[in-house]
Amino acid sequence: MKSVIPVFKGKNPILPGAEFIRNPFEFTIQHAGEMGDFYRVPFIFRKLFVTTSPEVISYVLQKNQKNYVKSIAYRHLKLALGNGLVTSEGDFWRRQRRLAQPAFYKKQLEDLFAKMTEVADRYVENLTKKTTGSETLDISKEMMSLTADIVLKTLFSSDNPGDISEMYRIMMDAQDYIVFRTTRPHLIPLGYLSGRHYRFKKDMIWFNSYIHQLIDERRKQKDPPNDLLTMLLQTTDADTGETMNDQQLRDEAVTLFAAGHETSSNALAWTLYLLSQNPEVLKKLRLEVEAVIGERTPTFEDLRKLTYTMQVIQEGMRLYPPAFALGRQPVEDDEISGQKIPAGSVVFISIGALHRDPKYWERPAEFYPEHFDPEQEKQRPRLAYMPFGAGPRMCIGNHFALMEMQLLLAMLVRQFDFELKKDHPIEAEPLITLKPKYGILMQVKPRIRAALSQA
Ligand code: HEM
Repeated sequence: MKSVIPVFKGKNPILPGAEFIRNPFEFTIQHAGEMGDFYRVPFIFRKLFVTTSPEVISYVLQKNQKNYVKSIAYRHLKLALGNGLVTSEGDFWRRQRRLAQPAFYKKQLEDLFAKMTEVADRYVENLTKKTTGSETLDISKEMMSLTADIVLKTLFSSDNPGDISEMYRIMMDAQDYIVFRTTRPHLIPLGYLSGRHYRFKKDMIWFNSYIHQLIDERRKQKDPPNDLLTMLLQTTDADTGETMNDQQLRDEAVTLFAAGHETSSNALAWTLYLLSQNPEVLKKLRLEVEAVIGERTPTFEDLRKLTYTMQVIQEGMRLYPPAFALGRQPVEDDEISGQKIPAGSVVFISIGALHRDPKYWERPAEFYPEHFDPEQEKQRPRLAYMPFGAGPRMCIGNHFALMEMQLLLAMLVRQFDFELKKDHPIEAEPLITLKPKYGILMQVKPRIRAALSQA
């Protein structure tokens, strides 16, 4: 195929794509300078185009989005998520999105926030007990179970620890299974011998019957709790009067659970790591938190006053975007900036590289929350920052996630000191989301009350 855009050659002329596959997050950041913002990485069976150009991104995700479906990687997710918002396409997706959207309106978020604070208070209390002296914890695991508790509480109003931990275990195992299928398709046949496929199926049977039971019970309840499941159950299509059937409810509930905790968890874990390396930022953050909420639990109204806290979170997701890339495939042949994009090829939007492009960021590699001062924000194209994606498929839970992270970050930095364990390696591993490969081991100490106002 004739290429009018640069083509990556790499060290291995036979398999230049291998470098990309090894770590697409690192690859696209490393090669951004030499390759520019729109280039091709040659593969034997598939055409892959990498982009960080806001114009190309806008074309694919907005202007001509009807011609672009989610790439093949999303199809593996269907094994666990079914046909929910993340994995569905076309008219079915459009209808589901319309039905689910009201669950994320401001009034509803305010009610969900109250549930979040319950979980956050309980977590801080338990962590205070657990860390009377100083405890070394894997912060990425801690944040994962905390955000899973929050999503389960806001979805199902569930507090049953036994079921929650089983659901949680199954989702984690399912994710490993999907990553295995996506990244090592040649090993899929071995999964029959090792029992991996069987275990996944068995887990899914338990999981599905548990969720269907929750849905059944909820349908019978006269005075149901005000949570996401009730919202999804009661929502009605304004045009047709249709509601979701049990299978759709199952798929959307599992999708919200899966999409709604690992992303926020990674964003928080990376931000706590970045704060441990940037004491000046931490100091400024604590000053704001103490001025706005003092020693009480934050309220929904406090959130808009926690402006620096928000900047810190945005900056954390700039350097380590949990959704580090978006993949799209054209349904029909297309052409972008004179470059032919054949049907079935992959357009890989590297959010990781876009967020570090020196064209848009004063200090691309530094943790500098001032990047999100309103004045600085005005200087950038809108699509220079897109941790939640863009266009009609943009994250439905973005406000949910931001308020959750503001709440948790404020409560955590007020209450605890987090110090990275000496010599602990930090490396970003791009799986379904961008994870710390070796976790983030930190010493966690409760802060002394008297020190709160001085630190
Ligand atoms: C820091 C946290 C989060 C990040 C960075 C994030 C990121 C994203 C991104 C980039 C997309 C678009 C994917 C694409 O276009 O291919 C997306 C979609 C989605 N997210 Fe999030 N997300 C976060 C939190 C949440 C939460 C808390 C929920 C729900 C409670 C959620 C539910 C969804 C759903 C359902 C979709 C699919 C939307 C659609 O296609 O209609 N996300 N997310």
